[in-house]
Amino acid sequence: MNIIVASTPGEASEYVAKRILNIIDATPAPVLGLATGGTPKGVYQMLRDERAKEGRDFSHLTTFNLDEYVGLDPAHAQSYRYYMNTHLFDHINIPSPQIHFLDGRASDLARECLTYDKAIENAGGIDFQLLGIGHNGHIGFNEPSGTLQFKTHVTTLDEATIEANARFFDASSQVPSQAITMGVEPIMHAEEIVLMAFGEDKADIVDALLNTPTLDPQLPASILRLHRNVTIILDKAAANVYQNRQSEEGIQ
Ligand code: GLP
Repeated sequence: MNIIVASTPGEASEYVAKRILNIIDATPAPVLGLATGGTPKGVYQMLRDERAKEGRDFSHLTTFNLDEYVGLDPAHAQSYRYYMNTHLFDHINIPSPQIHFLDGRASDLARECLTYDKAIENAGGIDFQLLGIGHNGHIGFNEPSGTLQFKTHVTTLDEATIEANARFFDASSQVPSQAITMGVEPIMHAEEIVLMAFGEDKADIVDALLNTPTLDPQLPASILRLHRNVTIILDKAAANVYQNRQSEEGIQ
């Protein structure tokens, strides 16, 4: 894994935005896997700025979002569709048929999952997958569990995830208890993966990810250790525990 420690979240976001722009320039029909949460907001802002200030063309892109809450209306301010439209898609020029979301209100969620995996396959897989990481090590909504699921599936959210995401809702009781998420297969089949983590509250899970000696479904992000082209990009605060351990081990 490549590990980059940036001085600030802004510097890390700039690095990731530039990497995405390079792919957009170099690839005739790039397929991006996109994440939500607080962490990638800076990247999306920079992509928006590229459109607004430089007139950058995004019309050849296809995107697949990682996950969605079950039961939230797409117009709900905390749905991931709403997040992506607000933070990115309303401001750049990807034609809407090329933008893919999971529908957490689908009447047949099992079919919705199958259809999504098929659509990713038909697009030729993902060229670049952007990820955050949960405090419990989740990627997308692949939660800690005895097993990791390959395919897109419905998942019950961890208490820790509900607590972490309650900050976006009026109360934790309003956070949906279930979500629909891409499984680990399309993520691991991506040509390139970039996982971003910022802030001291991510420092322990980042350290766990970078030091785990085992492939551990209780730490879903540990599967990324098997991928040949993963970059973990951190700010100083998120890298702190890991870097302290490195220097202690260097001293011993
Ligand atoms: C959310 C999303 C993940 C995201 C993670 C971290 O619940 N399902 O895709 O990466 O949790 O979020 P944040 O960036 O807000 O810390």
